[in-house]
Amino acid sequence: MNDDKVTAVALGGMKARGERIAALTACDYFSARVVDGAGIDLILVGDSLGMVALGYRNTLPVTMEEMLHHTRAVSRGVRRALLVADMPFMAAGVSVEETVRNAGRFVKEAGAEAVKIEGGEEIGGHVRAVVRAGVPVLGHIGLTPQDVLVVGGYRVQGRGEEAARRLLDDARALRECGVFAVVLECVPSPVAASITAALDIPTIGIGAGPRCDGQILVLHDILGMYEGRAAKFMKVYADVGAAMREAAAAYAREVREGAYPDDAHSYR
Ligand code: KIV
Repeated sequence: MNDDKVTAVALGGMKARGERIAALTACDYFSARVVDGAGIDLILVGDSLGMVALGYRNTLPVTMEEMLHHTRAVSRGVRRALLVADMPFMAAGVSVEETVRNAGRFVKEAGAEAVKIEGGEEIGGHVRAVVRAGVPVLGHIGLTPQDVLVVGGYRVQGRGEEAARRLLDDARALRECGVFAVVLECVPSPVAASITAALDIPTIGIGAGPRCDGQILVLHDILGMYEGRAAKFMKVYADVGAAMREAAAAYAREVREGAYPDDAHSYR
């Protein structure tokens, strides 16, 4: 293992030292190389790839085979970051045996170093079994996109005293079951701050305000590579989506005008 390799355990040390954790998603080899080279600590092959790379309406149709395929590509591009693969809808939670088997496939067949599992206290037994089998688990509570049909949409979670207390209970239960960190998605800032203060493992926020131990965003979102409305927490750092549209249009124009290829781009 390289000296600077980020491990699940090392992220706990970062929290203890007050160092913020920078995490991003990636779903292909080139993006993984770029994101890893930029010094991102944790790279998640998120099931959001179903929407941003495969064109599904939500994350529910994403299969284990699709996740394994993308995780393999990303693993070839990652050297330093901790590589986490997302357990897709129904890959975790149906039975403990199946959850452990699926988690193990990400490690054995695709080069993942941890898996992420959506859900709170109710999924604790499965999380514990995966950790016992030797696969580190990243928890994910708050807005859990795999529950979109049950919840009826994508909404901020943990508003109000009772809902905030349930989230804290979920976070504590997952901690007891052995997760090395927990993603808090679309949670009011003060609630995320109090969960962060209550846990000795890192919280990684997405739409959960600035007082989490780390932040994660979807790579396509920070590059403007999406269509439709952006969530409030999303920030475009480089509008690659606009640059792609312009480049494709310029290429089409030059081909039609006979300007491409010119002599400089032709063999003699
Ligand atoms: O699938 C995903 O990309 C995620 C992150 C947004 C946390 O779950």
